[in-house]
Amino acid sequence: MIGVFDSGVGGICAFREIRRLMPKANTVYLADRKNAPYGIKTKDEIISLTSKNINILRSIGADRVLIACCTASSVYSMLCEEEKAISMPIITPAAELASSFGRRIAVIATEHTAKNGVFSREISRFSSAEVFEFAEQRLVALVEDGCRDGRINEECEEILRRIGKTVGDINADTLILGCTHFSHLESELSKRCGIRIVSPAREGARALVKMIKTDRRDCGRIIYM
Ligand code: DGL
Repeated sequence: MIGVFDSGVGGICAFREIRRLMPKANTVYLADRKNAPYGIKTKDEIISLTSKNINILRSIGADRVLIACCTASSVYSMLCEEEKAISMPIITPAAELASSFGRRIAVIATEHTAKNGVFSREISRFSSAEVFEFAEQRLVALVEDGCRDGRINEECEEILRRIGKTVGDINADTLILGCTHFSHLESELSKRCGIRIVSPAREGARALVKMIKTDRRDCGRIIYM
């Protein structure tokens, strides 16, 4: 079974992509709303929540877990070996894709992710693109409160307009939605920014599906005794 988690509705974008690519797979989604938002928590709190979610999913039968939260993915390297073995973070696939065409890459993320600088570090492994990371924590609450699927309120509109202006001011050619909640606003951001958008939710889901399809554990095996 494939388990997917986030602090709330953000990771649902990754969950939908997995279900689109593998409609017959057994999947489960965990939204840790009780502890949301993750983006303003300390690193230790995020590690402990991430580890707890992986273990909840494992206890109900997941043998693979997509960490469909950039904030939680940013602490992946600090998880224990057992937790790392069954889980996949979503930062690298998005950083790799953005690096393949972006020269000036803007990243909007939670406070923790932006401060942590994880996207800059990952992108620097693939290219010498310039990276500009911004925290847009308030947008997380707005998405949780219903600003998604084409419905946005005045405050959300104002923030989206500001992001569009910032992206223009720094002359960015690529925008990474460095918090999965923002994938719910992808088309609105695309209209206001007019540049290529990379969604870690989508790229992470695709990377997980690719890994499952090529993993020998899932191929038909014959054991001669
Ligand atoms: N959706 C999450 C992320 O990708 C977390 C948002 C939050 O809980 O602050 O970072």
